[in-house]
Amino acid sequence: MRINVQGDGNVVVVTGDASSVKIGDIRLDSGESFDSVDFSNGHNNSGVGEAESASAKSCAKLLRAHYLNSSSKIHPTPWFEAGFQLRTTDIYTELEVTSRTERGVESSSSESDFRKRLVSGRCNRILVEGEPGVGKSTFCRKFTLDWATDDLEWAGNFDLLFTLNLRQVTRSGKLIDAIFDQLLPEDTDVDKGHLEHFIKKNQDKVLIFLDGVDELESTWKSDVLKLVKRRFLPQATVVATSRSTERHHLVTDIDGHYIIKGFTLDSVSSYIQKYFESDEGAAESLISMIEADDNIQILTTNPLNAVLLCVLWEDSERALWGNKVTELYRQIIVSIIKRFLKKMTHPCHSVKKFLEISNQSYQSWVKWRLMA
Ligand SMILES: Nc1ncnc2c1ncn2[C@@H]1O[C@H](COP(=O)(O)OP(=O)(O)O)[C@@H](O)[C@H]1O
Ligand SMILES: [Mg+2]
Repeated sequence: MRINVQGDGNVVVVTGDASSVKIGDIRLDSGESFDSVDFSNGHNNSGVGEAESASAKSCAKLLRAHYLNSSSKIHPTPWFEAGFQLRTTDIYTELEVTSRTERGVESSSSESDFRKRLVSGRCNRILVEGEPGVGKSTFCRKFTLDWATDDLEWAGNFDLLFTLNLRQVTRSGKLIDAIFDQLLPEDTDVDKGHLEHFIKKNQDKVLIFLDGVDELESTWKSDVLKLVKRRFLPQATVVATSRSTERHHLVTDIDGHYIIKGFTLDSVSSYIQKYFESDEGAAESLISMIEADDNIQILTTNPLNAVLLCVLWEDSERALWGNKVTELYRQIIVSIIKRFLKKMTHPCHSVKKFLEISNQSYQSWVKWRLMA
């Protein structure tokens, strides 16, 4: 094994088996990992002191608690029913995923392939693309939960996992601040400096999900780009999700490229059965209605549309709505507005809101009011 020793005054010591050597500033040549060599300096083998290790340990514990709380439930319709939640493990349905080579060739892939890639050490900058509502955030949430519950083998490869919602990044533009703002309790004992030091020295044990690169406020843009472009924490594994574009501006910086396609036709049925877990009849009738219409079938491969259709199916008491997709959308909007209105305590304010949302929504609302 070749080791580069940088900085002044370092001494290279060649030792026999089971020896312990203290080295000031070590860089491993690419392709070699900390696991394969003993860098014991009296505390651990990552070049950090006891205080830093303790901070990282306590951070991991807090992260797990946070993720178990925040990721174990999905709120499928947060805009009108904050209280309506489904357990992630009950409702999560495998997504159809493809991967794209550097030459742009797309081929079929899977979530398990993605998982393997994460820990393969072959790539550590991954872009996950997909249309709005296709399941990118839910995909991150599922992986985050798997790490928190230590359910699957891959999770053990990472001491720390940070899943950041880029839309919520508000101040400073520093990764460490976003971690403290979004993921740790305000009164945490974790020391910022110690944690930062641990992350730097144990990059290969750190996984970062950056959810919604396309939703990023400009204040943080340069830091996220630095992270993706390896100018910052180059050995950490970074997964960025983004809305699909013709040719994504990050493609030249990444070494893994996945595209989420949504549900397959089979998984739409499986999703509906899970959604109507306690009403088999509703599930079956909705599945047969969808199967009879190609357009609606295609529409529901987008998970967000599948959710909306289930909501509408509940609201419309399983009435048929004709076979036009535009009519279906109209009814979905009316259904959302109805539920939203139910939640609102000040109807006047809500009317203004509807005007803001869109003229089309407003028209539908007026129509519904006239019908009511
Ligand atoms: N794999 C999945 N299993 C079950 N439901 C899903 C899945 N993916 C997405 N959904 C549902 O679709 C909604 C939209 O998905 P989301 O992850 O927010 O999409 P995106 O981030 O791509 O815009 C979620 O709130 C969830 O209810
Ligand atoms: Mg999202």
